[in-house]
Amino acid sequence: MKALVLYSTRDGQTHAISSYIANCLKENAECDVMDLQDAENVDLSRYAKVMIGASIRYGHFSPLLDKFVKRHINHLNTMPSAFFSVNLTARKPEKRTPQTNAYTSKFLLATPWKPTQCGVFAGALRYPRYRWLDRVMIQLIMRMTGGETDTSKEVEYTDWEQVKQFAADFGKLAVKK
Ligand SMILES: Cc1cc2nc3c(=O)[nH]c(=O)nc-3n(C[C@H](O)[C@H](O)[C@H](O)COP(=O)(O)O)c2cc1C
Repeated sequence: MKALVLYSTRDGQTHAISSYIANCLKENAECDVMDLQDAENVDLSRYAKVMIGASIRYGHFSPLLDKFVKRHINHLNTMPSAFFSVNLTARKPEKRTPQTNAYTSKFLLATPWKPTQCGVFAGALRYPRYRWLDRVMIQLIMRMTGGETDTSKEVEYTDWEQVKQFAADFGKLAVKK
């Protein structure tokens, strides 16, 4: 049976990470990639494993994440599963684990889903692509947290080696019989 990688993205980085993971997995098994927006009625019993990735915007994951988990909780908790979050706080290595990344630890505490594997990836900062207000807000947050404040810049903080390792670990998860 195939693996399924679901993603929730606003600016494309979580999609890029999910596609990269799917390409890694495809070396050994079949894998589908789907936007969480289109996955409400997906039949998880058709898949051996599932992974969900979601990005943070102003402190929150998309409400689609909780909605999907609620709807599919029985399947999610009885099959090998993985969750990863994408945010800019994780550009600091010490904030890049499920325990030390506040958005991720908060989600894991609150959700009834018990993913077999969890990860946190640093996202991308793409000032020129943001609307004016978002650009100003992100610049303010970056100023307060010692990050890049030059609004002409695009910076990708994602550690692709970390993503590759996460995909390899997911590939090794034993399928429950
Ligand atoms: C409007 C906006 C708000 C954001 N808010 C946060 C935030 O509260 N905390 C954080 O760590 N990163 C924040 N980010 C950074 C995003 O999580 C990061 O850019 C990520 O790569 C976005 O993933 P996506 O392209 O899949 O949506 C924000 C980015 C934008 C554009």
